[in-house]
Amino acid sequence: MYLRNSWYVAALSSDIEAKLTALRILDENIVLYRAESGDPVALEDSCPHRRLPLSKGRLLNDNIECGYHGLQFDRSGQCVAVTTQERVPASAVVRSYPVVDRWGLVWIWMGNADLADDNLIVSIENYDNPDWKITTGDALPLACNYLYIMDNLLDPSHVAWVHRASFAAPGTDNTPLEINETDDGVIVHRWIYGNKPPPFYAPLVQFEGDCDRYQYYEAQYPCTAINKGVYVPAGKGGPDFKIDELTYVMISYHFMTPVDANNTRYYWLQHRNTEPDNEEVTESIASGARAAFLEDRDVLEAVHTGIANETTRHINLGLDAASLQFRRKLDKLILSESGESP
Ligand code: FES
Ligand SMILES: [Fe+2]
Repeated sequence: MYLRNSWYVAALSSDIEAKLTALRILDENIVLYRAESGDPVALEDSCPHRRLPLSKGRLLNDNIECGYHGLQFDRSGQCVAVTTQERVPASAVVRSYPVVDRWGLVWIWMGNADLADDNLIVSIENYDNPDWKITTGDALPLACNYLYIMDNLLDPSHVAWVHRASFAAPGTDNTPLEINETDDGVIVHRWIYGNKPPPFYAPLVQFEGDCDRYQYYEAQYPCTAINKGVYVPAGKGGPDFKIDELTYVMISYHFMTPVDANNTRYYWLQHRNTEPDNEEVTESIASGARAAFLEDRDVLEAVHTGIANETTRHINLGLDAASLQFRRKLDKLILSESGESP
């Protein structure tokens, strides 16, 4: 039910220190810590002796000492000391996971370690450009399956109802959507012409009056979403628009980490091309995004429960086309990875 050969966000980099942190990802228990070199380390959180979680032990330099009988494991997962006897059993080993610190996030590879390639981690254009500014989000727990969040992030229409006070504006409810399939996922996008900017963006855009607005929602397998909002003065938008000094661009990166079938941790970053040093703007974007994602959480947790308890099959609408396309291909990828024929 998960695509394992993929990078997932394990934690915010700022949350990982030289102490043991227990995490659950794709139904697996993992202990994460930062080694003395500064590199993050992720091991299976289960001592092979009596299965006490290693996260209940303690760090001795870079090694974990089990809290029950003192087995010591190095950062590769190999047991290197058994205090109660001389011989270290050959099978005293725990799985170690490839991990990479990038974009202020710790990434973990949940599949075959030989296939872990850090070039597969999402790229963030302009990350080092001083004219752009990143706002780092939270690790938000949601009591719902990750695919409901992916559906939501391929659905620009929902903003008209779920985010009335932030992202909604005339045209978000009924402007036709265009869908493109890519090698990595699905993109759904549209221009909405000649309206007031929505409340969240009105104080941020760099011009007065009405705007043309581009909504770009991209989902990449298995659980990354990139939303781009572009705002230009009314009359300047459209497929051939040219970026200029009045163009406001906000790119939101969303990373879902499935905990299990019913729970997900949601990470996000916001990246904008204006006022990089304006702390007030940064703070209002951070708090505005958080408030909007709490609105999504409220709906998606209830959707998860509603569908789990349904007695008649729910229906689909035209607005679901992109997410259904995404789910179909992801199912095939998961089946083919697990060796079953799609
Ligand atoms: S349970 Fe870990 S050493 Fe016994
Ligand atoms: Fe939303």
